[in-house]
Amino acid sequence: MCGIVAYIGPRDAVPILAEGLARLEYRGYDSAGLAVVGRGGELKVRKSKGRVHECTGDLPARFKGSPGIGHTRWATHGEPSDANAHPHVAGTVAVVHNGIIENAEELRAKLAADGAELLSDTDSEVLAHLIARSGAAELEEAVRQALTAVVGTYGIAVVDAARPDRIVLARNGSPVVLGIADREMYAASDVAALVGHTSQVVHLDDGELAVLTAGGYRTFTLDARATAHRPAEIEADAASYDRTGHDHFMAKEIHEQPAAVERALRGRLDARFHTAHLGGLNLDPREARAIRRVKVIGCGSAYYSGRIGAQLIEELARIPADAEPASEFRYRNPVVEPDTLYIAVSQSGETYDTLAAVQELRRKGGRVLGLVNVVGSAIARECDGGVYLHAGPEISVASTKTFTSTCVVFGLIALHLGRIRDLSPADGRRIADGLRALPGQIREILAQEDRIAELARKLSAAPGAFYVGRVRGYPVAREGAQKLKEIAYLHAEAYPASELKHGPLALVGPGLPTVAVLPDDDLLGKNQATLGEIRARRGPVIAVAHTAPDPRVTEDVVLVPRSEPELDPILLGVPLQLLAYHAALALGHDIDKPRNLAKSVTVE
Ligand code: AGP
Repeated sequence: MCGIVAYIGPRDAVPILAEGLARLEYRGYDSAGLAVVGRGGELKVRKSKGRVHECTGDLPARFKGSPGIGHTRWATHGEPSDANAHPHVAGTVAVVHNGIIENAEELRAKLAADGAELLSDTDSEVLAHLIARSGAAELEEAVRQALTAVVGTYGIAVVDAARPDRIVLARNGSPVVLGIADREMYAASDVAALVGHTSQVVHLDDGELAVLTAGGYRTFTLDARATAHRPAEIEADAASYDRTGHDHFMAKEIHEQPAAVERALRGRLDARFHTAHLGGLNLDPREARAIRRVKVIGCGSAYYSGRIGAQLIEELARIPADAEPASEFRYRNPVVEPDTLYIAVSQSGETYDTLAAVQELRRKGGRVLGLVNVVGSAIARECDGGVYLHAGPEISVASTKTFTSTCVVFGLIALHLGRIRDLSPADGRRIADGLRALPGQIREILAQEDRIAELARKLSAAPGAFYVGRVRGYPVAREGAQKLKEIAYLHAEAYPASELKHGPLALVGPGLPTVAVLPDDDLLGKNQATLGEIRARRGPVIAVAHTAPDPRVTEDVVLVPRSEPELDPILLGVPLQLLAYHAALALGHDIDKPRNLAKSVTVE
């Protein structure tokens, strides 16, 4: 969703902002804009509906300056339009804003009554007017005063052509990261815009402001108390944000899974006690033993990975565990129990519903762990402890490598909790060995890409598909269906295989294929019976299986290497990613930026 980039230093900010905005495109947006202070002290603004290159591609040579701020907007208040694009300007002040100002209507009315000319339908524009009207000598004080009038969430960057030696930034619920370089400073809402310029960053906390000058930065709170930060090192490099050799980020990220899983496991398996060490959990063995229940929350694919995680925890640690969409959980006034361990899953660490659920849990005294990919993100910072995925940046809107890495980290957590409880050393060793084998096994699956692409082309000709699985296979089916919907725009519905005959079987016939998740577990016979029911109605079947099913049921099979039964869902999900990718490719869709979707859903 919305993105911010800012630069101050001796160079012209325009190409730096344009490049930064292009790096933020993956988040999803509908308009873009930038403002720089020219050498003559004049504010230059360009903003428009549409793509970043449409906004920045034909800027005249004289459109130069520093400092500068840029923005990609995802419309919340007011339609996508040139006027609603950011920056918003009042006098010499220009502001870009991520988040939502909840009392914007009230502030707009007051400002209008006071003679302000509001040119957009956005909530954000009030910030520019409040700052311009503050009367404070210093820009940072004007911003601070303006923010005390505001209720809502924000990440903002502000320049003032009358005070061109600084940029002021602030954060409350929407990320802002400062990038530190030699005699120049950067800022962004996402480190993606900073890589290649610097590896030294400072993540602002909620309720904090920062002043950047070319020579450095200073941070302070909304009540004007100075704060201190030790800069952190960015893990990713510029190559992580390039497609390097792949047509789409999704393809690159699918193929990065063996390496991502290796990173998720690195240094975390203990060969002596056949367990896992996860330093960030902040749970001593006694606390771990006292857990009576585990509840996983997350949205979309994060929720589906949570279903697989809950299953792993219940099987290996014998702790009752389940998963729920964070968006539902936060609104049902949940009973928060002291002996329940809550686990929030989020690749981006920014998903608003998950963040709000974590805040609700913490407010009620719940203990929350975060399984997050983006270091320093809002959810990672809000939790009591957690585990980073270390999957590397995921650019494609459709999650693939972070889904798999999340399941692997759940495997580690389940092993850790299991070995503190009743999981035997022999079973601990079995699971640890199973986890270690995953990267090689994923490579074996990826090697079958041509065959999967062939099946995907068949699937793409259908109007939609059912996905079925039982117990361990069911969340895999749900995630597979989600992928097909997201990028191939084909209707796909996942069912527990046993549920077909309770209703959906009425739709089965030659025109509606079923994708079946068919591990060789003790439910194989029952799954085969379901496929028999589908075939009896001449429904086409694509099976993702350990062994080829009876050819009378289907010849369209992708064979997946066997893992330990508890870990099988991790591998069974991989072919379904390729199936969706190649179906979308066959249909000619914009795979990395599917319609209507954003990478990070930072609004309700
Ligand atoms: C996954 O392919 C989707 N893009 C989406 O469901 C995503 O998993 C969800 O929005 C949660 O995102 P998060 O992991 O960043 O919290």
